[in-house]
Amino acid sequence: MCKLHNTDSGIGGHVALDSFRLPKNVVPTDYVIKLFPNPTGKSGRFRGEETIAVTVKEATNVVALNVCDISIQKVRITRGGKSITGKVSINKENEVATITFPRQLAVGDWKLHLSFTGSHNQGLRGFYKSTWDDAAGKTHTIVTTQHEATEARKTFPCFDEPAFKATFKVSMVVDKTLVALSNGRRLKETSVSRRRKLVEFARTPKMSTYLTCFIVGEFESSEPAFVNGKEIRIWCVPGKKHMTSWALKCASRAIEWFEDYFGVPYFGGDKIDHVAIPDFEAGAMENTGCVTYREDALLCDEAAAAHDEFESIAVTVLHETAHFWFGDLVTMAWWNGLWLNESFATFMENLCLSFWRPEWKIWDGFGGMRAAALRIDGLKSTHPIEMPVNHPDEVDELFDAISYNKGGSVLDMIHQYIGFETFRQGIRIYLSRHALGNTQTGDLWDALEEACRQAGSDIPVRRIMDAWVFTPGHPVVSVERGEKPGTIKVSQQQFRFIGEEPSTSLWPIPLIIKTQTASGDIVKQTVLFDTADATIEVGEGFQWVKLNAGGSGVHRVRYSSDLALALTTNVQESLSVIERFNLVNDAWAGVRAGLSTAVDFLQLVPRFAGETDPTVFNIILGGLGALHRLLPEEKRQPLKDIIRAFARPTFDQLGWAPVAGESVQTTQLRASLFSTLGTTCEDPEVRARAEELYAAWQKDRTSVDPNLVSVFVDILSYFGDEARYEEFKQLFKTARTPSDSNTFLFSLNSFRSLELLKLTLAFSFSDEVSVQNSPYLFAGLLGNKYSQDFAWDYLRDNWEKVKAAFPTNMIPAIARSCGSLDTPAKAAEVREFFATHEVKAGAMAVAQMLEQLSIAVRLRENETERLLAYLATS
Ligand code: BES
Ligand code: ZN
Repeated sequence: MCKLHNTDSGIGGHVALDSFRLPKNVVPTDYVIKLFPNPTGKSGRFRGEETIAVTVKEATNVVALNVCDISIQKVRITRGGKSITGKVSINKENEVATITFPRQLAVGDWKLHLSFTGSHNQGLRGFYKSTWDDAAGKTHTIVTTQHEATEARKTFPCFDEPAFKATFKVSMVVDKTLVALSNGRRLKETSVSRRRKLVEFARTPKMSTYLTCFIVGEFESSEPAFVNGKEIRIWCVPGKKHMTSWALKCASRAIEWFEDYFGVPYFGGDKIDHVAIPDFEAGAMENTGCVTYREDALLCDEAAAAHDEFESIAVTVLHETAHFWFGDLVTMAWWNGLWLNESFATFMENLCLSFWRPEWKIWDGFGGMRAAALRIDGLKSTHPIEMPVNHPDEVDELFDAISYNKGGSVLDMIHQYIGFETFRQGIRIYLSRHALGNTQTGDLWDALEEACRQAGSDIPVRRIMDAWVFTPGHPVVSVERGEKPGTIKVSQQQFRFIGEEPSTSLWPIPLIIKTQTASGDIVKQTVLFDTADATIEVGEGFQWVKLNAGGSGVHRVRYSSDLALALTTNVQESLSVIERFNLVNDAWAGVRAGLSTAVDFLQLVPRFAGETDPTVFNIILGGLGALHRLLPEEKRQPLKDIIRAFARPTFDQLGWAPVAGESVQTTQLRASLFSTLGTTCEDPEVRARAEELYAAWQKDRTSVDPNLVSVFVDILSYFGDEARYEEFKQLFKTARTPSDSNTFLFSLNSFRSLELLKLTLAFSFSDEVSVQNSPYLFAGLLGNKYSQDFAWDYLRDNWEKVKAAFPTNMIPAIARSCGSLDTPAKAAEVREFFATHEVKAGAMAVAQMLEQLSIAVRLRENETERLLAYLATS
C-alpha cells in the first residue's frame, strides 16, 4: 500500500468478501429500524426489526453487512411482490454477516428485512448499559449508544462504513415511564400495551451509521432554547436539571456562530439534544441531533462553577457542534481521514471561542495542545497525521494527540498563513461542494487552494499540507547570524528526543519572522522555507530576530546563543504570551532531548521574573517540577527554595482571594501558584491557608472561590492522613456536582501514604467507582511516586484481572501510565512485560510509552548528579 497517498475512495471499488471492508455492489439508502430496548430486564438482551432499502448495483446473490455480538433471526429480501429468504453466515473476526439468497438479485432497488437480537453490554460501546444512583441510593439503569468508530454493528446489522450514508427512520418500544431519544425529533408516542409505548422519530437526513444514537431511561431536560428555527435542549438524569444552563448557552451560541461562519444551515433537522450520560467512555460524541456527553463535560452549577468547568464544557459543546458540519454533513470516505474530523473540530472549537470569549485568550491555551502533540511527535514511534487503517482496532488507535492536537495545529498554521477570510471561503466551498457526501483529505486542500486563487494568491495549499499530513515528525529550525551583515542563516532538521538519526524529510514551513530593526521598528516577513537551509535578509544592525512569530508554526526553534540572548534580554517586551510559552517549551524539550542541560533550563527561569500569564508560568513550573522529581527526596530543599523564590512574589502580588473584576488569567495563575507553593514547595503558610479554606468551605460552600476548591484539595491530600482520606472519599460519594465528584475521587491518588494508596487501588476495582473513571483512578497510582512500584507489581501480577475489570478500550491509557516508572530497573521490567503482553488497540500507545520511558531514564541518569552539584554550589 502506498503510504503517502491513500487513494481509497470510499464506495466504488471491489473488496473481497473475506475482508474487514464490505463489497460495494449493494448500497443502502434508508433504514427503518424498530428497537425493543431492555434497560431493566435481567438478561440484558434487546431485539430489533429493520428494513433496509438497498440498491443492487451489480446482480448478485449475496449481501454482506456488518454485525458484532448480534444474532440475526430472519432475513428476507423483497421487491414488488417477490420475497426471497436468505441464509446468514457470520465471520466473527471480520464482523461481517454474509446473507446468501437462492437466486440472483437483479440490479435495482430491494428491501432487506431482518430481525435480530443483541445485548446491552457494560463496556461503554454499542447499545450499552449505564447506571446511576439517586439521592436515596437506589440504582437506576439507562441504555444508550456509542457507535463511533465501528460499533453501530453491535446495535443493529448495518453497512457500518462512513461512506455508506443513508437515512434512518427510527422507532422504539419502551416503558411508558421512560424517555426515549434519538437523532430525529420525537414525532409521536402511542400506547402499545399497559406498560409500553411506541415512540416514533423523524427520519434523519442522509448520514453515516456511526452517527446514529438511541437512548432510553429516566431523563429530564432544560427548557428549550430556539435558535434559527432549531429547538435545543440539555438532558440529564433526574435531579440535575439545575446544572444545564451553561451548556444551553454554549449550545445555542455554537449553532448561531457556526451557521454564520460556514454559511450553511445546520442539516440535521429542527431539534438538537445534548444528553449527559452517567457512564461514558470518551468526553462526548457528535451524533447528529443527539449529542452525548460525560456528565462533567456538560453539567455544571453555573452559580458556583470554576473557570475550568465553564471552559471545558464550552470547548466540548463547540467541538461537537462543529462536527455537525465537519464529520456529520461532510464525512471522511474512510477512517484514514478521521484526523480531519477531529482536528477540524479541535481547531473550530478554539476559533469560535476566541470570538465568543476573547477574554479567555483561548489561543494562548492552545499552545499547550500543540506542545502535547510535539511531545509525541518527537518520538520515533509517532505516526503521520493521516495513515492507512483497516481493522477496527487500528481505527481506535487514531484517536490520539497526533490526530487531534497536531492535526489541529497544522490547520491553525495554514489558517494563519492564508488568513481568516480566505480560509473561511475555502471551507464554504468545501462544505457546499460535498454536503451529504464523503471526501478525501485532498478535497479540502483543493477547496482552500481555490479560495486562495479567488483571493489572488497562489499559495500551494495542497503541496504544503500533504507534506505536513503524510510526513511523521516535525522540524526544528536552527537560526544563527549569516555571514553577510543583516542576514540570518536558517536550517531545518527533524526534531527527535532520542535514538536514530533524524530522517532527511524537509517540511514546507510557513516561517514567520519578526525583527526589531536598528531604529527599533518591528518588521514582519513570511517565507515558505522548504529547503534544508537558507539565508534570509533581516536588515543591518537588527537588535533581535524571532522565528515562529505569533507561535502557530508546527516546529521548534533553536537560536544560536547570541541571538537567544538578544531575544530574551527582555522577554516580556520582545515576546508575546504564546511566543514565551514556545520558547520555554522548546527549551525544556531541548533538555529532554539531551541538547541542553537541566542547569541551562534553571538559568533561563529568572528571565521570566514578573511573568503574569498562567500558561507560561505553568510550562515553567512543569519543567521545574520534573527536575524536582529527579532529585532524591532528602536533597530537594535547594530546588524547592528556587521554585518558591520564583513563584511566591507573584503569588503575593495576586493575593489569596480573587478581586472583583480580575482577569480569568489572574484567577488561573493564583490557583496554579497556590497549588505549587502548597505541594512541591511545602510552603507552611500556604498550607495553613489551604486548611482554612477547606474549613470555610465545609461550613459554607459559597464562601470559597470555586477556582480554589481543587487547590485546597491538592494540598490537603498531599499532606493528608487517614482521616482526611476518609473525608475526601465521603465527599466524593456525596458530591453535588460532576466537578466535585472528579476532584474528590482523583484526590485519592495524591496522598503519599502507601497504606492509603493501597486503599485507592482496591477502591478502583470496587463498584463504587464507575467504569468511566475507575481505569483512570488505577492508572493514576502508576503516576504517583509513592504508589507506583506497588501499582506496577499489582498490574504485572494481575494483568488478566485488570483487563477484565476495566473496559478493553481503556487499557491503553493504563499502559501509557507506565511511562512514569523511570528508573532503569523498573523501565527494564516494563519493557520486558510489554514485549510479551499485548494491549488490544494499544500497539502505538505502548511503543510511545516505552520510548518516553527511555527518554525519562536517560534524563534521570544524565542530569541528576549534575543538577545536585549545581544546587550545592549556587
Ligand atoms: N468523535 C469524538 C468522540 C470519540 C472519541 C468517539 C473516541 C470514538 C472514539 C468526539 O467528537 C470527541 O472528539 N470528543 C472529545 C471531546 C473534545 C472536546 C476534544 C473527547 O471525547 O475527548
Ligand atoms: Zn471530535
